[in-house]
Amino acid sequence: MNGIKLLATGRHLPSRCVTNDDLSRMVETNDQWIRERTGIVTRYLCGEGEGNTSNALAAARQALERSGLAPEDIGLCVAATFTADHGTPSLACELHRLLGLPETTPSFDVNAACTGFLHALEVARCMLASGTLKTRRALVVGSEVLSRLTDFTDRSTCVLFGDGAGAAIIELDENAPYACVLGARGDAEVLRCGGAGIAGDYIYMDGRAVFRFAVEAIPRCVEEVLDRAGLTMDQVDHVICHQANARIIDHAIRKLKAPAEKFYKNIDKYGNTSSASIPIALDEMLEKGTARRGETAILVGFGGGLTWGGLLLEL
Ligand code: UT7
Repeated sequence: MNGIKLLATGRHLPSRCVTNDDLSRMVETNDQWIRERTGIVTRYLCGEGEGNTSNALAAARQALERSGLAPEDIGLCVAATFTADHGTPSLACELHRLLGLPETTPSFDVNAACTGFLHALEVARCMLASGTLKTRRALVVGSEVLSRLTDFTDRSTCVLFGDGAGAAIIELDENAPYACVLGARGDAEVLRCGGAGIAGDYIYMDGRAVFRFAVEAIPRCVEEVLDRAGLTMDQVDHVICHQANARIIDHAIRKLKAPAEKFYKNIDKYGNTSSASIPIALDEMLEKGTARRGETAILVGFGGGLTWGGLLLEL
């Protein structure tokens, strides 16, 4: 099977850093509750003049610059988001315009909520492998402005989410290790929202039900990906889970009896940024040297839909 190689990554967080204490002045909550129940300490929210497109553009520009490639080298642009600034043009088409990508580069959004980045990677890989594109390289972005869908009078949700964007330039590579499982459990009860632009229809979540779903889905995805790749946990360097709650990741570690140090966590800084959380983590790990080129990582997503997925790739 054709795999993908990660050529470069980028990330962008908007300017407004909101602390737990800031939120405790808006709703009846406190720093201790938020830290203990979620692991979140701060999150970044869009301020004046910032939005999904500007965040995604900054992340995509950084990835493109680091890759050393020109816009003409990008044969495909896929953005994972459910909070695009417009219905149309899509976020991917906005990036296409602002980055000056060639007219032969198809550009479109994918909505699989918090599992969106994994779906976008797999869609991009399949299209690159199909041979119909002009180049073997794609720009894949995960970007959300959840603050637009958040009710800041509802303490059960407003403390959880953050805005941000992550981007990756990938290249088709016949020799790269790769495995992927994606799925959905159609469910409109436990997690839903009207969408950007629909006034007053905020994110609704049955937190406990989503928690139960997540702690079942993560170990299952990791095991299925390992099985498909013919690898054991010892042969994988990193597991990067969607950052929704530090306790969810801890549960998964215990269930998998896996070494905790393989599981990256940065939810303390950014909160839950939905489809952006995995590419942001990837970029941060590579920048800090927590992860290195040539190492392998399993990415795991879960979220609205309900959707779930696991994907193994070489960094
Ligand atoms: O991206 C994927 C989608 N999201 C998720 O994966 C989220 C999954 N779920 C979770 O992370 C957790 O369920 C939450 C963090 C959302 C909630 O944590 P919990 O431990 O499940 O708390 P709970 O909902 O059972 O609420 C416990 C108590 C309640 O009070 P009572 O009824 O026991 O008196 C809540 O009203 O905590 C109260 N509470 C709060 N207290 C202070 C709920 N939110 C807050 C708050 N501050 N912000």
